[in-house]
Amino acid sequence: MARPTNVGIHAMDVYFPTTYVSQTDLEEFDGVSAGKYTIGLGQENMAVCGEREDINSVCLTAMENLLEKYGIGYDQIGRLEVGTETIVDKSKAVKTTLMSRFNEHGLFDVEGIDSKNACYGGTAAVLNSLAWVESSSYDGRYAMVVCGDIAVYEPGPARPTGGAGVFAMLIGPDAPLVVEPGVRGTHMEDVYDFYKPTMVSEYPRVDGHLSNACYLRALDGCYNRYADRYEKAVGEPFSLSSADYSVFHAPYNKLVQKSFGRYLWNDWLRNPTAHPELDAGFQEYAAISADESYTDRAFLKHLVNISKERYGQMVQPTELITKQCGNSYCGSTYAGLLSLISEKQDELDGKRVLLFSYGSGLAATQFSIKVADGAGVKEIAEKADVHARLADRTKITPEEFTAVLAHREESYTKFDYSPSRPVSDVAKGTYYLTEIDALERRHYARALHTSAAPLLAAAQNTAAGTAPRMVHRQGVRALPRFTSLMAPAVRLARRVFHR
Ligand code: ACO
Repeated sequence: MARPTNVGIHAMDVYFPTTYVSQTDLEEFDGVSAGKYTIGLGQENMAVCGEREDINSVCLTAMENLLEKYGIGYDQIGRLEVGTETIVDKSKAVKTTLMSRFNEHGLFDVEGIDSKNACYGGTAAVLNSLAWVESSSYDGRYAMVVCGDIAVYEPGPARPTGGAGVFAMLIGPDAPLVVEPGVRGTHMEDVYDFYKPTMVSEYPRVDGHLSNACYLRALDGCYNRYADRYEKAVGEPFSLSSADYSVFHAPYNKLVQKSFGRYLWNDWLRNPTAHPELDAGFQEYAAISADESYTDRAFLKHLVNISKERYGQMVQPTELITKQCGNSYCGSTYAGLLSLISEKQDELDGKRVLLFSYGSGLAATQFSIKVADGAGVKEIAEKADVHARLADRTKITPEEFTAVLAHREESYTKFDYSPSRPVSDVAKGTYYLTEIDALERRHYARALHTSAAPLLAAAQNTAAGTAPRMVHRQGVRALPRFTSLMAPAVRLARRVFHR
């Protein structure tokens, strides 16, 4: 079989929770000056997951929704990669929980596992999937990536930069969104800017200002390495003008604005004579040291101002989901891509999109996508239906948001319990946690309709141990418990599902 070409993204979808908190409301609640979160950080709303959602449930939802929307069977997936830093188990991968759905269909031959490094796991999963499709191991099935996080911070300046979202993608040959081969730039270092050293809390330890400087330093490294490889591969000078759109890992929008300006700064530093139009803007900063340039507020503000017009064309269409949902960590770069797809649809035909992915610690990569089929991209936009789904969410108050996080904190290390919160806000098609049992195994069900009562009853039954191992209740499909009893459960699952 000839090695596949034009490998890239065929299909894409997002899951974000149905509740959000407004950043304007949060500014007032937190007692910070008006505009700090909305203008200073550039954020509008932040998605909020309830106690019943954990990383396994949100990834199950994203995976299943994508497959249903595209009519793709589990037997068409040969590799499944998860990228996340929302860890609920130090050993058992989220991917293994997703396998429960494959196992129910009698399928076990699916390569891939979780990738973890702060917000970079999604990109690691994408790169692994591309490599598999391009490799001698490829068997004609799709690779699937599920990436994202529930991003929560302790009270303080980092809290408004939380969020949530999970992105599912199908990767294969002859895709509408082709990941350009041979032109990638990577930058990796050993730093402690953001990390999660303890399992007793969901919250990271974060040095926010250090993380911003690390992000910008990684961006410089990636951009220049990408540019060098592009010039070698394409045989022409690279600059921002070589691309049409630019997607960034977006912890908060202001950092994206600074980063985009930094691309122009790098263009000028790389080849000043090729960019006389930038002389007037950059000459006054010609002597700034690299270290100063990552933290000097006046310089960073200047970058934002000088690049405003081009930002409007190249980056603004990528902001939709990240401004509305906040940081989805491993999903964030793909939130930018799906936003662009939603905003521009088939206008993207033939365009080049730069993507920058950053994960603290640190790992970062710049790569690019060439759009090969505008109609295919339009289909992704229509199926994802992002505008309508964002508009359909429910706003909660900062008090409710704070209570949700307090509740998550309180229940984080609990086991032998069922979440007490009602499931009335669990949207149709969403998986949710029904129980963490006495052996700390997690169990899930999927809401198949929006009525709360039967869901609650079923969850309570499961908690009380009265439900069978695999149950079909009105509105609920509980997942089997895949433990040492896996084989009988699979047999039972096959009987139930193939009836
Ligand atoms: N109106 C308009 N702007 C305002 C206002 C106001 N009323 N008040 C403050 N601002 C501006 C500030 O001038 C500043 O702008 P600038 O950065 O352009 O100079 C901005 O708002 C933020 O204010 P700071 O005082 O710098 O913010 P603070 O120190 O409180 O926290 C931070 C910001 C560090 C980003 C914090 O939210 C954080 O730690 N977040 C998590 C870490 C993070 O996201 N890092 C990014 C990369 S790593 C990752 O993805 C997790």
